[in-house]
Amino acid sequence: MKALTVQPGQAGSARLEDVPEPPESDGPVVVETLAIGVCGTDAEIVGGRYGWPPPGRERLVIGHESLGRVVQAPDGGPVKTGDLAVGIVRRPDPVPCPSCAAGEWDFCRNGQYTERGIKQHDGYCSERYRIHPDFLVPVPTELGPLGVLLEPTSVVAKAWEEVERIGNRAHWEPRCAVVTGAGPIGLLAALIGVQKGLEVHVLDRVTSGPKPQLVADLGAHYHTGSIADMGVSADAVIECTGVGQLVFDAMEHTAPGGVVCLTGVSSGGRQLAVDAGLLNRSMVLENEAVVGSVNANRRHYQAGADALARADRSWLERLVSRRVPLEQWAQALERSDDDVKVVIELGSP
Ligand code: BGC
Repeated sequence: MKALTVQPGQAGSARLEDVPEPPESDGPVVVETLAIGVCGTDAEIVGGRYGWPPPGRERLVIGHESLGRVVQAPDGGPVKTGDLAVGIVRRPDPVPCPSCAAGEWDFCRNGQYTERGIKQHDGYCSERYRIHPDFLVPVPTELGPLGVLLEPTSVVAKAWEEVERIGNRAHWEPRCAVVTGAGPIGLLAALIGVQKGLEVHVLDRVTSGPKPQLVADLGAHYHTGSIADMGVSADAVIECTGVGQLVFDAMEHTAPGGVVCLTGVSSGGRQLAVDAGLLNRSMVLENEAVVGSVNANRRHYQAGADALARADRSWLERLVSRRVPLEQWAQALERSDDDVKVVIELGSP
């Protein structure tokens, strides 16, 4: 079968190639892949800056944002032939650590987890894959092709859960949220913020293209410039860029008791001058919290599916700015300013 593979660590090594059928050790359910979303993590992997191949191999099948149709499943199980479904990305570590043992692999404590399409386990950008039903999430039929947005939505559903749990450590009535970055993660974070009844402000660099209108159509406010220029006092900040300056700006411009959630996986190598003492003092005196958040466990996929089901379908459709057939995968990896979410298509629901 055809699969999009890459040699992690080596830039420009992506290619479409024939690979063996998926191994039975991956699970009893066979899924035909319909679509794969491309994200910043894929760009990092394809650029040779992130990603790990399976043990004993040089190449990794990429693709962790997926939508597929079940074509073979054990009788009486939680999924059946014909179901639309999304594969969970992370697998618990084999020890397992206490978090993985409790189904919270997103909080793996020993780093020995694997991630499909990212870390030591083939991803979903192949014509078929196998999976255990515990790691397959059914997609509401009415979402159809938009189910490909479930994985990134699960990541922001987790970020919001973190923010709320930390915010609620004391009496908390959040009113205003800032989201930095109007890419798919930022827009989905803004969607959930609006669904929670918050006044949401989104900051990005671009002044043209679809992003400003997508934000406005959510009922949120679009800004360019710096966080200081926005003139808002955020009870919650979801930082979705990983840009060091924005991370520190977010920490400086949070309302007393506010929570900053960092979701961007940045590369190192840039240094910033920071008045650490002043920042420390304001964070202490105002009870502020900063938390990093990665990945998602099963309850976050469920929360993500609920958020997508409540969202305006036509707005979600506009998030998918380009659909590219598998044979033209290289075009999907090129980014243009007007792109929001680019999807590689292998079939149709
Ligand atoms: C994925 C997560 C993953 C993270 C780090 C993100 O792009 O959505 O599932 O945990 O990268 O590898």
